[in-house]
Amino acid sequence: MTLRIGLFGRGRLGSAIAAEAAESLAWQVGRGDTPEAGADVADVAIDASVAEAVEAHLDWALSTGTDLVIGTTGWSLPGLEARVAGRIGVLSASNFSLSVALMARFATVLGRFAALEPARDPYLVEHHHRLKVDAPSGTAKTLAAALMAGCPRKTEWTLGTPAPHQLSLGVIRAGAEFGTHTVGLDAPAEVLELTHRARSRAPFAQGALAAARWLHGRKGVFTMDDLAADLLDPLFVFGGRP
Ligand SMILES: NC(=O)c1ccc[n+]([C@@H]2O[C@H](COP(=O)([O-])OP(=O)(O)OC[C@H]3O[C@@H](n4cnc5c(N)ncnc54)[C@H](OP(=O)(O)O)[C@@H]3O)[C@@H](O)[C@H]2O)c1
Repeated sequence: MTLRIGLFGRGRLGSAIAAEAAESLAWQVGRGDTPEAGADVADVAIDASVAEAVEAHLDWALSTGTDLVIGTTGWSLPGLEARVAGRIGVLSASNFSLSVALMARFATVLGRFAALEPARDPYLVEHHHRLKVDAPSGTAKTLAAALMAGCPRKTEWTLGTPAPHQLSLGVIRAGAEFGTHTVGLDAPAEVLELTHRARSRAPFAQGALAAARWLHGRKGVFTMDDLAADLLDPLFVFGGRP
């Protein structure tokens, strides 16, 4: 059976998801609208709106028993797990691209490599179109966390001049860029960089629908990483050993 999708948001990401969802789109609402229908009309709702609206959308999902995929970035809901309490499935992702999930794994390995040698200085740069509201991007924060998980001497990121315990993070807001993220290592005699660049919003829209399919029927709070683990972690086995 085709999954029926509800969509909060009529902006850039919302429009891309609506186009990919095609006939499986049950409803789409913008600012100030509340879907009248509940879980009897859409199996999974996807939030592609603004950070301030996420809490109301979660309340709506809990009250109607509809699973919720949150693609909106820049929000924070303390106690999310307790609020959901296994009643519905909630999956949040700052980036729906599976390639970015792979990059987060590379970032942790890069962090571990930096941890072996203090002269290997890790950094992160992101570039988005000039209309993007939040900075740094949710993806940049996710990648920074992944990198720092591998490099214990870095405990927080900063946009300014970094103290030794801080990871230097650069933000560009210019032009029409869909989203570019680079994680790098600057060592005295060499530089290692890994860049992900989205050519359109299609990877995010396709990933959002894949996340909806994965989430439906599961209860609790998940991230894109849970979805990616099954697929990506086997790629890190070398010579029969992880
Ligand atoms: N997870 C990912 O892979 C991914 C990828 C790209 C973007 N994002 C994130 O997705 C979010 C949306 O990005 P975007 O580029 O689509 O932004 P956008 O073009 O500004 O669209 C946001 C839309 O949300 C609408 N909106 C505001 N309040 C709402 C509400 N209460 N209910 C429903 N809709 C509401 C806005 O309506 P008005 O025009 O009336 O204000 C606007 O149409 C951002 O947080 C962005 O960072 C995530």
